[in-house]
Amino acid sequence: GRSGDLAGRRVIITAGGTHEPIDPVRYIGNRSSGKMGYSLAIEARDRGAHVLLISGPVALPAPYGIEVQRVETAVQMRDAVYSSITDADVLIMSAAVADFRPAEPAAQKIKKVSGQARGQSETDAFSLHLVQNPDILKDLAEPLQESHNRNEQPRRRLIRVGFAAETEDIIANARHKLAAKQLDLLVANDVTRSDSGFATDTNKVLIFHADGAVEDLPVMAKSDVAAAIWDRVVPFLGTM
Ligand code: C5P
Repeated sequence: GRSGDLAGRRVIITAGGTHEPIDPVRYIGNRSSGKMGYSLAIEARDRGAHVLLISGPVALPAPYGIEVQRVETAVQMRDAVYSSITDADVLIMSAAVADFRPAEPAAQKIKKVSGQARGQSETDAFSLHLVQNPDILKDLAEPLQESHNRNEQPRRRLIRVGFAAETEDIIANARHKLAAKQLDLLVANDVTRSDSGFATDTNKVLIFHADGAVEDLPVMAKSDVAAAIWDRVVPFLGTM
């Protein structure tokens, strides 16, 4: 890593997916392995940052020298981010946050009911009622930061970096997300490629900048992608 260029900085990285409970034994989840987020955390540690890694359920061990807070749901992830955000210089949301959660998880395991018992056909459907989760990154966009600071010293600006896992229209979707969430950088990967995205050790990403510039990086180890991302975040910190 670029030795020490994050010394004294506090960075928050979210990683992995979220699990949204359906009942005590089932959840809605996604394929995120957490590898990209853990690589970002390790790279930041090696460059001297104080790292808080807020991790969804993943199969990875807690990296040495990194404070790890484990969460399951999107709401828990939001609460963990909010509790630590005041002192942070950078937030990188690499977590695949579930967009929806079951409105009311069942208190007991949901049983199958035979079609006959319900007087309906065997193929009858079962529906889950979902509600939208909070958008953690979007809710931290500028207006909220300003109101938060109204009666306080203006605090250091929080650099916010988002990820986008796309299966189609990568460029249009990424540009839209960067603008809608007012991000400093957005890293987009094509999760339909076998060498990119979930569970792989390599990633093929595009990095979108707020001024409209786009960088198309080659397939690289996730640790090298992490270094490339921090190389682009550090200049934002220099101006503070
Ligand atoms: O899900 P989406 O493609 O909009 O995710 C883009 C970025 O927003 C990611 O960095 C993700 O971690 C973040 N996000 C979030 N809260 C959500 C959904 C996504 O912070 N509820």
